[in-house]
Amino acid sequence: MSAFSTVAVLGAGTMGHALALVHALAGCSVRLQDVRPEALERAFGLIEAALDTLVAAGEIGREAAAAAAARIAPTARLEAAVEGAELVIETVVEDRAVKREVYTGIAAAAPAEAIVASNTSYLDVFPLMPEVLQRRAAIAHWYTPPYILDLVDLVPGPATDPAALDRLEAFYRAIGKRPVRFSRMLQGYVANRLQAAIGAEIFRLLDEEGIEPAVIDESIRHGLGLRLLLQGQLGKADYTGLELVAKALANRTYTPPPPRDRSPTLDRLLGEGRSGVMAGRGFYDYGGRSAAALFRERDRKLLALKRAWRAIEGEGA
Ligand SMILES: NC(=O)c1ccc[n+]([C@@H]2O[C@H](COP(=O)([O-])OP(=O)(O)OC[C@H]3O[C@@H](n4cnc5c(N)ncnc54)[C@H](O)[C@@H]3O)[C@@H](O)[C@H]2O)c1
Repeated sequence: MSAFSTVAVLGAGTMGHALALVHALAGCSVRLQDVRPEALERAFGLIEAALDTLVAAGEIGREAAAAAAARIAPTARLEAAVEGAELVIETVVEDRAVKREVYTGIAAAAPAEAIVASNTSYLDVFPLMPEVLQRRAAIAHWYTPPYILDLVDLVPGPATDPAALDRLEAFYRAIGKRPVRFSRMLQGYVANRLQAAIGAEIFRLLDEEGIEPAVIDESIRHGLGLRLLLQGQLGKADYTGLELVAKALANRTYTPPPPRDRSPTLDRLLGEGRSGVMAGRGFYDYGGRSAAALFRERDRKLLALKRAWRAIEGEGA
């Protein structure tokens, strides 16, 4: 039996509300927990907005959306969230001490067989977990917004029972997600590591070469983006021809220096209060539009792209 009937999601922030939604849409009964009441309240607003977007895009019907929303119950207490849970998802702040405390709470209150899945982006969380969780704990790392993006990185700890990962993998595949499974902790997984490498190069282009943000994004969107979506990088390399790929390695125009820990461009923007969509301005100016409206528009466009992509994949291209 691979489905999870009861799921606890600990942490109701950017990722927590969205992961509650993913599991509720999959038919699970979900308890969403956070220590801050205002985070829980905001989470339910975001869940409603995401459901509206999914309905408007034709991804789900109104009744399915209402049923999914009804399957998510808020709670402030970890003990209440994990009681009877078959799967406990930890998606609290990326802070070792907080995560350690949450794992201690899970070990004390969750059923002895509950699978524990951390959504950590960068931490090796296994040393933070009590011994009793080690056999049934894993990292299941998602990309935002996870009700649209399907990749899930599945990573075992040193003592994880492969059956726990088998179950997560089978469940996520069954609900249409695209789990990739690693045999051991791989820092940054694949997608986050590539994102970090691209980020390092982008900040060099901004800070040291004076390239404008719009030029960088135009190059990505109109040069790299479509091909990456359809072929990945290695599938694309086969079309380039591997001899040319080998020459590009040998004749590379420069060797990147080690990335820096700070970017003057980023520091300047942050100093001006331009912290991104939530502040209405970041690299770009959003003309006074609210973050909620911007997120909705992003989600609507991502869903349209995904629909087109599905149709192309369906062609067997
Ligand atoms: N933001 C992303 O795009 C993203 C993507 C993938 C993974 N992650 C990972 O997901 C996790 C959560 O990130 P986020 O962006 O959702 O953070 P966030 O700050 O938006 O939300 C974290 C929530 O955890 C709550 N919290 C803090 N201590 C708690 C406790 N003891 N018990 C319960 N809740 C507690 C906070 O009140 C907050 O609402 C992190 O490990 C992060 O690395 C984030």
